[in-house]
Amino acid sequence: MRWSTRSPAPSTRRGPAGKSTRAKWPVVGILPRVVITVRTERLVLRRVSADVDVDNFVDLDSDPEVMRYLSGGAPTPREEVEREIMPALIAEYERTPGFGLWAAEVDGEYVGWFCLRIRRNRPAGDAELGYRLKRAVWRRGLATEGSRALIARAFGELGVARVYAETMAGNVGSRAVMAKVGLRFVRSFHEKFDWPVPGTEHAGVEYAITRAEYEALQG
Ligand SMILES: CC(C)(COP(=O)(O)OP(=O)(O)OC[C@H]1O[C@@H](n2cnc3c(N)ncnc32)[C@H](O)[C@@H]1OP(=O)(O)O)[C@@H](O)C(=O)NCCC(=O)NCCS
Repeated sequence: MRWSTRSPAPSTRRGPAGKSTRAKWPVVGILPRVVITVRTERLVLRRVSADVDVDNFVDLDSDPEVMRYLSGGAPTPREEVEREIMPALIAEYERTPGFGLWAAEVDGEYVGWFCLRIRRNRPAGDAELGYRLKRAVWRRGLATEGSRALIARAFGELGVARVYAETMAGNVGSRAVMAKVGLRFVRSFHEKFDWPVPGTEHAGVEYAITRAEYEALQG
């Protein structure tokens, strides 16, 4: 297994609870191809674009520390970004409106990405949160800030029932973000990994927050 940026299968056309996600997304309802952005205090989250983001993705994934728990440190080949990842991400915007992967910028500089996605073989109403940031911006609260914005969107206009996130058990940074934004440990699981990470026993962990838990946190 490899935690990837690849898009889910094309089968996911219906949103949570079997409703059309298109109807829940006011801007998309008027202009289906509009570039959706999310703004937080410091972050701008925008749709990825093949023109500028191939270089950004290749650069981000070329840092072995960034990729430590994603590929065992191996970079993602440019050809894979160009031919597989970018087209899949762009198609995902059309297939699951309101969901997908956003490039993250701070003061106009690319700093990584966040995602909120509908995955196949998951219960209806589940959306997966993810993030990957450049090492230069770690430990400044950006993952927390972006994740909170996406969780608010998930339980707001997107109407999801549950937000979950997965990582390797040893990825303490990612687990700390999950806990900080209100997700709770649900389970650990074992997958076949293509690469060894010593000390982790190859285990993955899932954290999640339900709508009821989210609303309770909001008071
Ligand atoms: C995981 C990652 C997104 C965290 O981003 P970040 O912007 O540094 O996280 P934040 O600054 O919002 O930190 C949130 C909390 O996690 C803690 N934290 C972050 N990284 C940590 C680490 N490596 N070890 C321990 N705690 C960590 C922070 O201290 C903070 O808690 P606190 O406020 O109580 O101190 C970033 O390290 C990253 O991109 N890693 C590589 C890609 C990756 O592994 N993605 C997740 C794959 S599932």
